[in-house]
Amino acid sequence: MSTIFTRCSVRSYLSKPVEDDKIERILRAGFQAPSAHNRQPWEFLVVSDKGDLKAIAGMSPWSAMAEKAPLCIACCADTERARFDDSGETWWVEDLAAATENILLQIEEEGLGGVWLGWYPAMERVKSFSAHFGLPSHIVPFSLVVLGYPAHPHKSTGRYDGARVHYGRWA
Ligand SMILES: Cc1cc2nc3c(=O)[nH]c(=O)nc-3n(C[C@H](O)[C@H](O)[C@H](O)COP(=O)(O)O)c2cc1C
Repeated sequence: MSTIFTRCSVRSYLSKPVEDDKIERILRAGFQAPSAHNRQPWEFLVVSDKGDLKAIAGMSPWSAMAEKAPLCIACCADTERARFDDSGETWWVEDLAAATENILLQIEEEGLGGVWLGWYPAMERVKSFSAHFGLPSHIVPFSLVVLGYPAHPHKSTGRYDGARVHYGRWA
């Protein structure tokens, strides 16, 4: 899968909107992620309103690119759906991370560019976003993916480091 090796974070975009069919395939990729106990606890909020994107840009020191982006997908966890027994053990962070990565890879596959913005567990960001968009208390905005057509060509660099791979035993 070559998109794993070509994807990199893209933070500047053309003003061109992202077509609905591309948005749907990107969301389908998110839904396709593996999930613990197969709870599939994700919900996605698609944001394209300019005022809302500007508001997102002001919610974190590292989200300025949202103001000039055509689109943002908030990957949210339904913490009630994530529960699978009474132990309190929960895996929605891992599930949402897998869904976010799937979304980033499909963005690359579509010829678009995007960036993952860390949201949970930065609780100030979680609170600002939840208040602005009216999220119920059991829905947690885990990550925001800002995306659009890249303003510039991008390419990734290889990062493989054999010294950090261990076979059989650590030493
Ligand atoms: C959990 C997480 C949180 C991140 N938060 C931000 C962010 O708030 N703003 C941003 O511009 N990039 C953010 N990034 C993107 C990283 O900066 C980027 O993935 C890293 O520098 C590696 O570059 P690459 O994505 O181009 O390979 C985040 C990435 C992850 C996985």
